[in-house]
Amino acid sequence: MQTELIEKLYKTGDLSAEELKGLIENRSTDDFELLSRYARQRCEESYGDRVFTRGLIEISSYCKNDCLYCGLRRSNGNAERYRLSQEEILACCENGYGLGFRTFVLQGGEDGYYTDEFLCGVVSEIKEKYPDCAVTLSLGERSRESFQRLFDAGADRYLLRHETADKAHYERLHPKEMSYDNRMRCLSDLRDIGYQVGCGFMVGSPFQTVDCLAADLRFIKEFQPHMVGIGPFIRHKDTPFADMPDGTAELTLFLLSVVRLLLPKVLLPATTALGTISPTGREQGLMAGANVVMPNLSPVLVRKKYSLYDNKICTGEEAAECAGCLERRVSSVGRRLVCERGDYGS
Ligand code: SAM
Ligand code: SF4
Ligand code: FES
Repeated sequence: MQTELIEKLYKTGDLSAEELKGLIENRSTDDFELLSRYARQRCEESYGDRVFTRGLIEISSYCKNDCLYCGLRRSNGNAERYRLSQEEILACCENGYGLGFRTFVLQGGEDGYYTDEFLCGVVSEIKEKYPDCAVTLSLGERSRESFQRLFDAGADRYLLRHETADKAHYERLHPKEMSYDNRMRCLSDLRDIGYQVGCGFMVGSPFQTVDCLAADLRFIKEFQPHMVGIGPFIRHKDTPFADMPDGTAELTLFLLSVVRLLLPKVLLPATTALGTISPTGREQGLMAGANVVMPNLSPVLVRKKYSLYDNKICTGEEAAECAGCLERRVSSVGRRLVCERGDYGS
């Protein structure tokens, strides 16, 4: 058992790339037990028993990109495409506000229909109607000017997973026209502008090695994001990775605990992907150090069309059903789902 290394991570909040690599490679169930106990403790010191909730609104399934892992990639001719109007997005917020959400996450493919003008209008309208709510955007890579305009219109946070901190690995997951350097440029612009920023990666993405994971964890430690999105890679039948193995819940949970110890105050969701590969994945995520859940607020009619990976859960349920379901799941592990904005360190 790697007690010494885990104690060091717990006490210092830091490990070298070599140490992280060893910790992952030699992990045992006993290691995870100790690691997750420490991770829960750190989470509790920062946030008590509170779990924050974010209403996820999937605004568009159109995407100009061709990420090899994603069902929304432009080359997927079988994908059903939709985009929500301003009125539809605002109706989701109205519904969500009534259900107690105080953060709305607008997520979608990189869809040119959503110009700065359109998005600034939506963001400022949401902020005007719900001044006590935070708006998070997760709309992919944009120019610095665009990020600035959206921030000026009132957006508070931006989620852009770095996907992998290993450039060669990045190039195996993305087509030539996408670049690791631009992804990193976006993340540093977002931080400079003043957003609360989220990065993250998929666990078990094709060609990922333990060295990639150690690099991801070092990147996260050094970048010091406010949020980290980690979920298992899950194959999609209409992508080039259709036959690749899925990531595991076990390694995802282990890494959630490591991230909590590296960044004690980080906002860390128990993701839908984790709930998809394991029926109790999100509850286990909370037990491993996560403190955020993101129920789906998208209109039920479009849910199935936002198909990033196969067998995604929550595609038939109304927003209120997901909200209630998650509240029960959170309570089942002795935690409390709260109606707060849930800012970093709050
Ligand atoms: N288009 C934006 C972007 O790429 O940042 C936001 C939406 S994108 C669908 C959100 C995240 O979904 C990506 O960052 C990626 O990590 C994750 N994702 C895509 N395909 C996936 C898959 N097959 N399995 C698990 N997660 C996936
Ligand atoms: Fe588009 Fe995002 Fe999917 Fe890549 S991960 S294809 S950018 S929706
Ligand atoms: Fe959507 Fe359980 S969270 S049905």
